[in-house]
Amino acid sequence: MSQVSYLKNNMNKPVFVDFGCGPNLQVAIEYKKKGYYIIIIERSEKDLYNHSDMDHPDMEWFKIIADEIFFFDITDLSKTITYKADAWLCSAVLEHIKLDDIDLFLKGMKNHCKKNSQGLIHIDLTDHYGGFNHRVNPENYNFIKNLHEEKEWYEIIEKYFTIETWHKLFWHQNIESEDFKPHVMYDANGDEYLSDYYTVLGSENKEEIFNCGNCIGLDFNVFV
Ligand SMILES: C[S@@+](CC[C@H](N)C(=O)[O-])C[C@H]1O[C@@H](n2cnc3c(N)ncnc32)[C@H](O)[C@@H]1O
Repeated sequence: MSQVSYLKNNMNKPVFVDFGCGPNLQVAIEYKKKGYYIIIIERSEKDLYNHSDMDHPDMEWFKIIADEIFFFDITDLSKTITYKADAWLCSAVLEHIKLDDIDLFLKGMKNHCKKNSQGLIHIDLTDHYGGFNHRVNPENYNFIKNLHEEKEWYEIIEKYFTIETWHKLFWHQNIESEDFKPHVMYDANGDEYLSDYYTVLGSENKEEIFNCGNCIGLDFNVFV
């Protein structure tokens, strides 16, 4: 470990790692406010700003939030980071990983996490335009590699992590039951608002897990 990294975290802060953060550092900012040491991992500098309104990576902005930034492919198991995660996030990344690389990706993430660390894995199951057309015309959606739904993802995730709870997400117009709770989000000022989707707690009984076809996303709260 370099002296700079050592000095930066000589307060032994807890560590938060965002795997595949892109330009979205909202959760990292929340952890920064709680006093965590922030590490972000992306494939390249360009991937940090590619899907944002920045026309170049404003590295100063990223460096205000992240204490350290690593650029590498998370499937590369030879890579290490300075401090392993106590808490971590992998949001909207797995659906972009080739099916053959998912195991490597999850092993890679786990290598950078402390034992007993807590993580949130969010997977977007849609075609990213609100529907599921990628299942019908996958050739039009090269950027989405995912054809799995909740049952398959549950089985993949539990090979590497202990699933504490998991949630299925639905567009609110598809739901009539009162059991479904609107999902609470936070705006840039930290104020609560209700999103346009609902979440429902996934079953703890594996026999009861089925693919409903219209589930738009999955949240897995896991530990290592
Ligand atoms: C759709 S973006 C999600 C960004 C952010 N996590 C969010 O929730 O908005 C997916 C990000 O994952 C990154 N990514 C995909 N595969 C990766 C890999 N193998 N290693 C590191 N980053 C990866 C991409 O570069 C991209 O920035």
